[in-house]
Amino acid sequence: MNQPILPGSAPSGDNDQADGVDPQSVSRRDFMVAAGTVAGAVAVGVPAMSVAATDPDMARAPRVQRVGLTVNGVRRDLSIDARQSLLDVLRENLQLTGTKKGCNQGACGACTVLVNGRRIVSCLALAALYDGADVQTIEGLASGDTLHPLQAAFIDHEGFQCGFCTSGQIMSGVACIIEGHARSPREVQYWMSGNICRCGAYRGITAAIAEVGAKGAAS
Ligand code: FES
Ligand code: FES
Repeated sequence: MNQPILPGSAPSGDNDQADGVDPQSVSRRDFMVAAGTVAGAVAVGVPAMSVAATDPDMARAPRVQRVGLTVNGVRRDLSIDARQSLLDVLRENLQLTGTKKGCNQGACGACTVLVNGRRIVSCLALAALYDGADVQTIEGLASGDTLHPLQAAFIDHEGFQCGFCTSGQIMSGVACIIEGHARSPREVQYWMSGNICRCGAYRGITAAIAEVGAKGAAS
């Protein structure tokens, strides 16, 4: 019966009889399988022996984590699955569905929110790592019934068609202006290149951001 492979017992070179390895008990194939398991465990920070003993059902079970976020000025203390993205916490735990899930892999910008004043794609942000952060979403942009200047500019310039990308475009646009990257349409195009609009409403999007950027009215 095979013995468990422990760190430090790896064979060297092509010699299966290297120190600490009994060739009768550990084949080269067994070693490669075990080494792969250990490497994967180390990569995700899990002790190797616990991976070997992991029950598949336990692996799927949520690991509850406490996290505190200030979202649109309101403190929220949450119990989340430690594997949740910030996007999923916003949409599923807080029902703030204005932030959209497009690609869910950092490629489209639909999920853009501001965290501590900087724009990020929330689908790639592990919520557990943002304990104590200040998060602003599209729902927190207007002041009561008064739209943020960039929201109003998107309407004036018809910077949308279906609207799916719009919250991400506006949040990214707000950051773009704050960063000082909205001084011309060309500059806006460059610094907004991470936000995709499948409807191709780029002309209006660019005009809206450049107009508000020229006025310096992002916040
Ligand atoms: Fe996050 Fe596309 S949903 S970048
Ligand atoms: Fe439809 Fe941008 S308005 S994807």
